[in-house]
Amino acid sequence: MSVAKKEYKRVTVKSLVEMKSNGEKISMLTAYDYTMAKIVDGAGIDVILVGDSASNVMAGHETTLPITLDQMIYHASSVVRAIHRALVVVDLPFGSYQSDPKEALRSAIRIMKESGGHAVKMEGGKEVKDSIKRILHAGIPVMGHLGLTPQSIYKFGTYTVRAKEEQEAQQLKEDALMLERAGCFGIVLEKIPAKLAQEVAKSVSIPVIGIGAGNGVDGQVLVTHDMIGMTHEFNPRFLRRYMNLYEEMTNAFSKYGEDVKRGDFPNDDEQY
Ligand code: KIV
Repeated sequence: MSVAKKEYKRVTVKSLVEMKSNGEKISMLTAYDYTMAKIVDGAGIDVILVGDSASNVMAGHETTLPITLDQMIYHASSVVRAIHRALVVVDLPFGSYQSDPKEALRSAIRIMKESGGHAVKMEGGKEVKDSIKRILHAGIPVMGHLGLTPQSIYKFGTYTVRAKEEQEAQQLKEDALMLERAGCFGIVLEKIPAKLAQEVAKSVSIPVIGIGAGNGVDGQVLVTHDMIGMTHEFNPRFLRRYMNLYEEMTNAFSKYGEDVKRGDFPNDDEQY
């Protein structure tokens, strides 16, 4: 079903809730630097996530745990300088909010003040409820993140689909309702069964954005470097690759290398 799209000059947390109630799907992609953010924003993507996946994608760490608050602020401020329309959501990194609500608020304030981001995202349900409330109380919009929460990878042990068992699914549904009641403006659901994700999306009035959570939710998010095929070793079922940049870039770099070696670059037109 195609839905008449309202034009948003700037996407706000309110626009996202409006999109959900109008049945308009929400698009979200990651960016960690100015140049990529400019392209993503120019393409009309609604939300740019400065994800802690920067830890993997930009820094080459195995998990998202090592990235620091200072590094997230650096990435986020580069992204903010590029955007004209998208809402910029910044991940609170591991270790910057788990110990207590005061620390969580301090970290969120640093992100808002020092990067100019528009909202923060944090992983977890009832265990981070007090921190979420404290941040919201300071006027900072918060997006929740349930299901596969990569900051807890050592607790889970693997990156497999979450909430397949009834008990975990039930907890996830309760956590989603709690996030809505606490005042979050949206929730990311990562790698859970599509049926459960659809049920959650129907049970709350705030937008639910899925990654590996099927098509019954209110929007989708992917890691940009994965969807443009710049990374090529990560091949989960939920990932649609729109380009094969790994191959194209490899070809371009090796062609350049050959041209330099052969003395073919620069030619007469490419010099002063
Ligand atoms: O850090 C990230 O990129 C994320 C997405 C996978 C949702 O949290």
